[in-house]
Amino acid sequence: MLEQLLDKRLIFVTGKGGVGKSTVTAGLAHALARSKRRTLVLETDTFSAMEDLFDYSSPGLEPISINEYLYASNLSSEECFIATLRRFVPSERIARAIIKNRIARVFFRAAPSVNEVTILDQVRVFFEKTDDDGEPFYDHILVDLPASGHAVTFLNVPATMHGMMRGIGPIATMSGQVAELISDPATTAIIAVCLPEEMPVNETIELADNIDETLGRPLDLAIANMVHQAPLDAKNRPLFEEIHQQIREDYPGVESLFFDEEDERAESTAIARLIEGNALALGWADRDREYLELLYDRLSAPIVEVPIVYESSGTDVVDKLSRIFIGDSSDAASLTA
Ligand SMILES: Nc1ncnc2c1ncn2[C@@H]1O[C@H](COP(=O)(O)OP(=O)(O)OP(=O)(O)O)[C@@H](O)[C@H]1O
Ligand SMILES: [Mg+2]
Repeated sequence: MLEQLLDKRLIFVTGKGGVGKSTVTAGLAHALARSKRRTLVLETDTFSAMEDLFDYSSPGLEPISINEYLYASNLSSEECFIATLRRFVPSERIARAIIKNRIARVFFRAAPSVNEVTILDQVRVFFEKTDDDGEPFYDHILVDLPASGHAVTFLNVPATMHGMMRGIGPIATMSGQVAELISDPATTAIIAVCLPEEMPVNETIELADNIDETLGRPLDLAIANMVHQAPLDAKNRPLFEEIHQQIREDYPGVESLFFDEEDERAESTAIARLIEGNALALGWADRDREYLELLYDRLSAPIVEVPIVYESSGTDVVDKLSRIFIGDSSDAASLTA
């Protein structure tokens, strides 16, 4: 699936809270870095998920190098504000003095959208950073955005600010540059992560419309995350249903997959419980499929399904997802586009 993103240098990832935005962003970043693309993963002034997932601690704005191809930074709004201010005043000392000033602090806290614009402007600075040959330093920048309700508002702030100032003055120019970058589908991609569940699917459909209407550009990709895989092929299903039916008749009341030491029948019902366990997993896969069909039906953006993986730590989940994204043959079967 990475091919769809290779020509996108700036990739924004959003989705409802808890659907796996950070994990998927980290997995994509890891996959791109493993493909030898210099990749920067950014968070927007939040409690950092990446620090845990990649085991580093971020000292400031300057991206930290996790490995040869992978970089990360959590964009603190205060540091971004100072960095932006620094471009308008002669020295960092003055910039820091301004932000320490009590009255200025109150003003900037109250001024709408200053945080969003300065954070996104810092994204632009990284986007424009070049190496010694004048080539872009980062092949890809991934931004783990806030939850979907806020993401469109967040991304639309530069355009709004540019409009409010009627394009006049240095801040309007800066906002205009950022807005242009966000609205350019040739270099920038917006990805929505969701779960195959009713609310997240409906929210993703709404989000796609909202991105179209507000940002004047499409949603590029939806990632349906944590999709349950059916434990058997569709062609074996009729046989399985038959066995299941038989088991239900032969072992009435046996439902649990788990071994219960108190249950006298536990040993003798092992096969029945195994069949019940598979029936349960089939039910989960069926239910996911229902919501996925709704998503395929209503969304014009391409959809990639990412399986739920069973790993013991977030870092291992990220590692596994990155191999799936690359198309590692041992995991490729579990990814269906
Ligand atoms: N494909 C997956 N398979 C298994 N577990 C997953 C998968 N994707 C995410 N998870 C797990 O789901 C949990 C939530 O993930 P994550 O923190 O990335 O969500 P988020 O959308 O960024 O949440 P928030 O809205 O709080 O920022 C984590 O425990 C993560 O390991
Ligand atoms: Mg997160």
